[in-house]
Amino acid sequence: MDVFNVIEKRYSVRSYANKDIPDKDLRKILESARLAPSAGNRQEWRFIVVKDKDIRAKLCEAAKEQVFVSEAPVVIACCAETDNHMMTCGQLCYPIDVAVAIDHMALVATELGIGSCWIGAFHEDKVKKILNIPDEIRVVELLCLGYAADEKPHEKNRLSLKKIVKYEKWG
Ligand SMILES: Cc1cc2nc3c(=O)[nH]c(=O)nc-3n(C[C@H](O)[C@H](O)[C@H](O)COP(=O)(O)O)c2cc1C
Repeated sequence: MDVFNVIEKRYSVRSYANKDIPDKDLRKILESARLAPSAGNRQEWRFIVVKDKDIRAKLCEAAKEQVFVSEAPVVIACCAETDNHMMTCGQLCYPIDVAVAIDHMALVATELGIGSCWIGAFHEDKVKKILNIPDEIRVVELLCLGYAADEKPHEKNRLSLKKIVKYEKWG
């Protein structure tokens, strides 16, 4: 699959089969995060790979009972060890850099036939408590990974290029 095919194929999987991800595939997914670009190459991302069933069940609770969070054989807490550095443009580096790394992981997972879903609907304080994460570390997103239980053609519901792209000037 070329990159564009992978991008087209990826969708948010919200129902997972009871099947483990091979270690070598998980390693490749994590390696794709490690190789991601980051502002000033700061690499503030840190990842906690959770496979333990009981911990996943607790994360599901912290993620507003989104049931598939406990179904997914792997949940990655995508964190940042950050000094809140801001780019000249006024944006914080860490949420952007962690997001880029997550997208790498989701795309490589797709290429390997592994589904994923980003989770932003979670209580950070609860996740920190469950995973013993120190106060100064931020939890940016959770990423569910696993084989889709309900693989089906997925329609992309997106705005048109006409709506989102302007050329040369805003107006
Ligand atoms: C930053 C971010 C946070 C998200 N949080 C959640 C979430 O908490 N629960 C969920 O089911 N999906 C979540 N999603 C998935 C989006 O709903 C999904 O990407 C979007 O609807 C487009 O659908 P697709 O991924 O299937 O193409 C999140 C996606 C992103 C990028």
